[in-house]
Amino acid sequence: MHLQEQVYVPLGLYVHVPFCGVPCSYCAFYKERLTPAALERYTHCLCDEIRSIDDDRAFDTIYFGGGNPGVLGPEQIGRIAANIHQKLRQSPREWTVESSPNMVSESKLRAWQSAGVNRLSLGVQSFDERTLRALGRKQNPRQTFHAYELIRQMGYRNVGLDLIFSAPEQTATQLIADLTTAISLAPEHISTYCLTYEEGTPLSQKVGNGAEEGRDSDFYEMVCDFLGNRGYEQYEISNFCQRGYASIHNKNTWRMADWIGLGPSASSQYRGRRYSQMASVGRWAAGIENRHPEWRDIVNLDEKILAIDKIIFGLRMNEGVDISRNPCGDRLEFFFRDLQSEALLIREGPIIRLTRQGRLLCDAITQEIFNFF
Ligand SMILES: C[S@@+](CC[C@H](N)C(=O)[O-])C[C@H]1O[C@@H](n2cnc3c(N)ncnc32)[C@H](O)[C@@H]1O
Ligand code: SF4
Repeated sequence: MHLQEQVYVPLGLYVHVPFCGVPCSYCAFYKERLTPAALERYTHCLCDEIRSIDDDRAFDTIYFGGGNPGVLGPEQIGRIAANIHQKLRQSPREWTVESSPNMVSESKLRAWQSAGVNRLSLGVQSFDERTLRALGRKQNPRQTFHAYELIRQMGYRNVGLDLIFSAPEQTATQLIADLTTAISLAPEHISTYCLTYEEGTPLSQKVGNGAEEGRDSDFYEMVCDFLGNRGYEQYEISNFCQRGYASIHNKNTWRMADWIGLGPSASSQYRGRRYSQMASVGRWAAGIENRHPEWRDIVNLDEKILAIDKIIFGLRMNEGVDISRNPCGDRLEFFFRDLQSEALLIREGPIIRLTRQGRLLCDAITQEIFNFF
């Protein structure tokens, strides 16, 4: 396969907002202490960085993630959006913003809406006070309901909820209660992540690695059955949606499209290279102010890298991946045949897909594939 043969590769824009109100005790995502001065310097440099984009292509999707983009105020949102609009050839099909419920306000929602945001992803995690406390999450269920109601009142028609399952001491009854409450709100999209005990986080310092192998997979199966039986089709290991509401941005990324990543720590896949920005507001901002942005982890993409990643990320999706044009080689062919005979993988013509059982072992399977190349 030659890169030039690809007819249309969608282009995404990812913006990383590296601040959170109060960090949660389980989270290892890069973030910095929120101060008005730091947020203002970030906004100023981000606007500069947006202006420096030099590409005539239209952005298919835009995604503001974090950290917590909910920390941005209406005026800052307006400034950032005005700079983005200067670069838009047409309205993106999807523009998502992540936020925690306790950062949602009417004025921010209005500012995002005027900017053209048409999808919100709300970091609910749980509706249960005990689970929220166990996760060190500084929000209460009332704030979540209020935020969701406000979002709907404002007319947002594509809303996703993020949930975490298998928190310390969470019971099956509590998990089902969380899922029941989530679907009672009828969001278009639900992401469910099994809690990972990330090294160095306050949670793992307190309880060590609390993961319970059997419980994690039992709960995962409960999540898949519960949501699947209630109209939420699974389209990726951790993602479920009502028909037609899969995240376009994330699917493009998993299919190895191009994207430009702005903001500290954001990664890009762009013009044949993959690279990340410095995970430090200071260093990232200095790079923009001096007109010498610093990048790390630069990889020149070739057919082999893209082929491996297409398979690895493609297998995470229920639609699977077309391997007819990928140079898999005999050893990988044998491996796929083994997986088929163990009912972990299905092959339909050129498409390979993991079965439900295969998805439970997805990390181990993709690691194995990685080792083949
Ligand atoms: C970067 S956060 C963005 C949302 C926003 N910051 C918030 O938390 O409300 C994306 C999602 O990652 C998930 N996440 C973060 N750390 C995790 C962990 N250690 N285990 C499982 N899920 C995690 C949470 O569900 C979170 O909603
Ligand atoms: S889960 Fe979200 S709000 Fe909590 S610390 Fe991580 S990025 Fe910040």
